[in-house]
Amino acid sequence: MNGNFWNRLKKPILVSAPMVDVTDCVFRYLLTRYSKPNVIFNEFISADGLTLGNRDRFMKDLRFHYSEDQHHVAQFFGSKPQNFKVSAQLAKQLQWDGIDINMGCPSRKVISPKQASGIALILNPSLAQDIISATMEGAPDLPVSVKTRIGWDEIEIDHWIPSLLKMKPSALTVHLRTKKELSLVPAHWEHSLISKILEMRDSISPTTKIIGNGDIESLQDAHIKIQHFQIDGAMIGRALYGNPWFFSTRTFQIDNNNDSLSDYITIGERFRVILEHAILLEHLIPYKPIVTMSRHYTNYLSGLSDLGDNAILKKNLIAAENSIQIHSLLNQYLEQKGKSIYTLDYQLIKANIINSLTSNELSIQQNLLPTS
Ligand SMILES: Cc1cc2nc3c(=O)[nH]c(=O)nc-3n(C[C@H](O)[C@H](O)[C@H](O)COP(=O)(O)O)c2cc1C
Repeated sequence: MNGNFWNRLKKPILVSAPMVDVTDCVFRYLLTRYSKPNVIFNEFISADGLTLGNRDRFMKDLRFHYSEDQHHVAQFFGSKPQNFKVSAQLAKQLQWDGIDINMGCPSRKVISPKQASGIALILNPSLAQDIISATMEGAPDLPVSVKTRIGWDEIEIDHWIPSLLKMKPSALTVHLRTKKELSLVPAHWEHSLISKILEMRDSISPTTKIIGNGDIESLQDAHIKIQHFQIDGAMIGRALYGNPWFFSTRTFQIDNNNDSLSDYITIGERFRVILEHAILLEHLIPYKPIVTMSRHYTNYLSGLSDLGDNAILKKNLIAAENSIQIHSLLNQYLEQKGKSIYTLDYQLIKANIINSLTSNELSIQQNLLPTS
């Protein structure tokens, strides 16, 4: 469905965050398969790379699995308005539902004087505005949103947030930390700060959705924060590691301090999804090493019978070179623990997961993506 999907979404809006090497097309697919957030962002992609570099590779990273209930947003970073325009045109051709501009990344490489992207745009609000305009020009019928932080060294929203809102983005995701804070301190879930952002929104761009981000641990936590702070939605990042069930009611109350995924999802199901994850990585992004999925293991393996076992299995999985080795390690563990009832059938799981990729997704790829 075309048009501004943000306007059609009802509160509470639940969004999965863009995360490099985490929310690749495989994990995004697992999210749509197991829990269905309202909006799914891709890991950010360089607007310069897409425009001037190895376009084939970046186009592959921009694949997504079409699903009716979810809205897919392509996020780009960079500092050259013209390259955002081209990237927006490509996102439109690839049938993404929306475009997001990264104005929050604090990584040294991204904010270096040469790149001057991510949160460095806070130092040049008029360039940030030009980038938003160029993106809107590139894809006039797609909603354009922005993701940012609340300051550089100090909290300083008074000039920055209004300068973004003046461009009437469809949504503004605010990661409630400054650049300096990285993710090292608790996010500023503070009434005075969030109310101020909402007041700015109400007076400058009342239709912009405000999405809060930072440290959300569970679906329940997301619902509470949305209601308590009167924001439109919440974006969840690291709590998604190894938990594609996050947005389902099955794990609603999970609280990383008190309980774990294992209280809600059986070991059999988690092991099957680990294997699906590995098989899909090889199938869809064979150019990335399988170790890419290592961030997910802690959660996937949480609550195994004793900590020592968990650590050894995790170490072996990280060292595995392919999905066949991962399959052997998981089955060995199940056998040792007397849980052969969950033994994984590699061929069956592979056939099921690959068949589940719909013809819809493939048709998008066939038309637009390079074949090799
Ligand atoms: C591994 C990793 C990669 C990230 N990549 C991106 C990215 O590509 N684009 C972006 O806007 N933010 C990125 N972020 C920031 C997250 O989207 C999110 O704002 C941050 O993790 C705070 O949310 P959380 O506390 O729920 O994790 C990344 C964060 C992590 C941990």
